[in-house]
Amino acid sequence: MVWIPKEQRWHLAVVPYLDQRIHAPMRPTLLLLHGFPLDHHLWDPNRDALSAAADLIVPDLRGFGRTTTEVSTTTMEHFAQDLFKLLDGQGVQQVIPCGLSMGGYVAMAMAELAPHRLQGLILCNTRLVADTAEARIGREATATDALAKGMTVIARAMAPKLLGKSTRQHKPHLITWVENMIGRQAPAATAAAARGMAQRTDRTPVLAGFHRPALVITGDEDELMPLPTSEHMHRALPHGSMVVLEGCGHLSNVEAPERFNTAVLEYLGSL
Ligand code: MLT
Repeated sequence: MVWIPKEQRWHLAVVPYLDQRIHAPMRPTLLLLHGFPLDHHLWDPNRDALSAAADLIVPDLRGFGRTTTEVSTTTMEHFAQDLFKLLDGQGVQQVIPCGLSMGGYVAMAMAELAPHRLQGLILCNTRLVADTAEARIGREATATDALAKGMTVIARAMAPKLLGKSTRQHKPHLITWVENMIGRQAPAATAAAARGMAQRTDRTPVLAGFHRPALVITGDEDELMPLPTSEHMHRALPHGSMVVLEGCGHLSNVEAPERFNTAVLEYLGSL
């Protein structure tokens, strides 16, 4: 298995922000975790604003972006373990994972594996329950399609569903942006992550036992994770707050970056 080649670490936001950590030791570290099947570029609209208040680590999850993978299934625990190794390598003890959709699943796996390493938690457009039997069948179909038909087909089918109705209407260029990002991903990584997502367990007990401040962000036009999904997560969190971005779909950080950034910055300010 190859994950995050050394040169890529230099490409990411990890290293530039280390200097700031040295000069401002009280700054929190945000670990920005992309969704499926995307890469670290998902966070391009947020990096500048969020770096005003936090050090940022913006990795590609195993197999995505500039990383590669040779496994046929990547569980959320695999991703989480990769990230703890990355943090160990950077000498970072505690982070606030901010994960969107699959990135949220990974953030919850981190909260289960090593809650003491989480200073907080931001869950965007995601859910805490496991897949239904029907959803698992759909995951396998996605995996098979990615391997047999390639990412162009997956990208065309998925990109419009990731954006809300208002965004599709008023910012159609974002459909192309997302489609291109999906089209660049490796079929093997996409298949492995789809199969890994099918193995998720219910994280309700994990969130119920998470006693640090947490933030849930979603969009009222998210067709993949409808509002009750986020309300369910919010209810499970003992110290959770929730922000619903109007006119936003599944990629709320891209569809309304200013409002998304404000929500995260206010949460960081409240810590
Ligand atoms: C994502 O955006 O990461 C996916 O919608 C997650 C999923 O398929 O469950």
